[in-house]
Amino acid sequence: MLPWVVVYAEFGPVKNEKLVMKRILITSALPYINGIKHLGNLAGSMLPADVYARFERLRGKDVLYICATDEHGTPAELAAEAAGQPVQDYCDQQYERQRAAGEGFSLSFDWFGRSSSPQNHAFTQHFADRLEGANLLEERTSAQIYSIDDKRFLPDRYVEGTCPHCKSEKARGDQCDSCGRLLDPTDLIDPYSTVSGSHNVEVRDTTHLFLKQAAMQGTIRKCVEAATDWPPLARSIALKWLDEGLQDRAITRDLSWGVPVLQNGKPRPGFENKVFYVWFDAPIEYIGATREWAEANDKDWESWWRTDQGADDVSYVQFMGKDNVAFHTVSFPITMLGSGEPWKTVDRLKAFNWVTWYGGKFSTSQKRGIFMDQALEIAPSDLWRWHLMANAPESADAAFTLEHFQTTVNSDLANVLGNFVNRITKFATAKFDGQVPAAGSPGELEIKLYAELDSHLAALTKHHSAMEYRKATAETRAIWAAGNEYLAEAAPWTAIKTDPDRAAMIVRTALNLVVISAIIAQVFIPDAAAKVLDAMGVPKGNRNWPNEPASVLLDALPHGLAFEVPEMLFAKIEDEQVQEWSELFGAE
Ligand code: 2FM
Ligand code: ZN
Repeated sequence: MLPWVVVYAEFGPVKNEKLVMKRILITSALPYINGIKHLGNLAGSMLPADVYARFERLRGKDVLYICATDEHGTPAELAAEAAGQPVQDYCDQQYERQRAAGEGFSLSFDWFGRSSSPQNHAFTQHFADRLEGANLLEERTSAQIYSIDDKRFLPDRYVEGTCPHCKSEKARGDQCDSCGRLLDPTDLIDPYSTVSGSHNVEVRDTTHLFLKQAAMQGTIRKCVEAATDWPPLARSIALKWLDEGLQDRAITRDLSWGVPVLQNGKPRPGFENKVFYVWFDAPIEYIGATREWAEANDKDWESWWRTDQGADDVSYVQFMGKDNVAFHTVSFPITMLGSGEPWKTVDRLKAFNWVTWYGGKFSTSQKRGIFMDQALEIAPSDLWRWHLMANAPESADAAFTLEHFQTTVNSDLANVLGNFVNRITKFATAKFDGQVPAAGSPGELEIKLYAELDSHLAALTKHHSAMEYRKATAETRAIWAAGNEYLAEAAPWTAIKTDPDRAAMIVRTALNLVVISAIIAQVFIPDAAAKVLDAMGVPKGNRNWPNEPASVLLDALPHGLAFEVPEMLFAKIEDEQVQEWSELFGAE
């Protein structure tokens, strides 16, 4: 037993890495409550955040991965109305669906909270009080679009019209998707309500609280310029907003569902029928959800979020789609820094482009594309997880097609990993009684394999640390492929006839490589990886990120250890299935 304990015990936290934070706070953008999310949403925030969380946990870090549903705002109100339910009931039900879908995809949240929680209400009201105390809030009366037919003010994205800048006819009230500019709904030419389609709208005066973002321009620029650790996409988006000059923004809305506008604990006069803007309270829910987690688990939230209470020692990493970057690099930091309190702000921000559905838009409202619950009905979550990360929209948008999904799954998972694991475990079971053989010593091929594995593992660790998922999946695949190549070259089936010790050496090396292949696969395909590691008899505590030379890793399994052939890992996706799914999901 001794070698096992010694070798694997050292797999733990990375050694010789200076200035590496031990505690890592991870948040992924909060999915809106109105309906289950599509694969594009998953790929651009929750899934990569989960992969990163798993990676850092395997490296022995103290990780806190927080997410929640984003429950306020008009979308929730309208969706509840359409479903004929009170908003609270609607949100309760949808929260449960989203939580279950996250579980189905093995998203390893430490907490999946709700922005409608009392904790978030309290923090949101607290921040507003602090911002007011810092003279960063101001009541302003402004013109807003009121829909006479819908009997409501139409916030932001419920007004569409023609963009005053690029003349796109599909500009939303808050932003034009064509030219990317932030808009005010009253800027739109020929506005209409997207709730009813009615053009019977007028501009009415309403009073709101404005956050004086312009006053914080210098502070925010300093932070962004200092944030050299942010990946380039996030930084360039933030700098673009700063170069255009920060605008003051209304942080309240004429709605009934949301966080009530209090002032020092009492209803703010004139704001009794208003709530805070969903984009004001949503990022605050990162803190709210941490507190929900802390209260449910008898932990403290302050040491994660308050730099005066230990959070200086935390590395805070955010994951999101590119449309969220402005809110996270500008608005949310303004809320935190403007409060004058010592809040922990983001250290690294990973932003993604879009996953498209055959080059077009995935759309929640138009039900175009595959949604998380549907995906789980037709294929195991590992297959989606692998494909989405191998084709992560990192440097540009990435088109999802079912044909591409089939190719990735069949070639990477079934042919490369599945084949390697299956071939060697079956052969070893037949020829070595299902036990790790002890005989033989390394030869030329093993020495070559050690060098290859050392360099792949170093690159893989680097790509994961840099949150570069196309590269990390490619490197993972290269390690699996090295297994097949080694077997082809070393040919244990030939050696066994003339030199059983040599065959034992090859089999032992390959079985250890199966274990390493599965250990590194855990972050992407946790279910299949667990099947392999269970079958190989690797205890849960010995599945940490490999941090030893390959010569040690490839002889780490105790000699004589009994293993089994894992049940089939991946079924190939057949052409008929692709055909059937294309019809089902309206592939173009
Ligand atoms: O774009 C979205 O899906 C938003 N619900 C993201 C919110 S992220 C955070 F700030 F809450
Ligand atoms: Zn435009």
